[in-house]
Amino acid sequence: MTNPDYIIIRAEEDGVHVIGLTRGTDTKFHHSEKLDTGEVMIAQFTEHTSAMKIRGKAKIYSTHGVVESDFKK
Ligand code: TRP
Repeated sequence: MTNPDYIIIRAEEDGVHVIGLTRGTDTKFHHSEKLDTGEVMIAQFTEHTSAMKIRGKAKIYSTHGVVESDFKK
């Protein structure tokens, strides 16, 4: 049911947030992790986590390639 592939998030600025959203009928934030520049988080989608939101400037490495998030004021 869930995808065992890992997603790697590398913060490109201080204060990047990786936010996990719940699986199921309710889609809610259940966890927020703060990363500073150069910090890396390695995460999976699980039975509890169906989506992730990345807030801030980061590089996200996955089987889909590399995508960059950014935050413009
Ligand atoms: N307890 C969460 C879970 O098992 C931990 C987790 C997994 C998580 N992947 C995540 C938290 C991605 C935030 C973002 O689903």
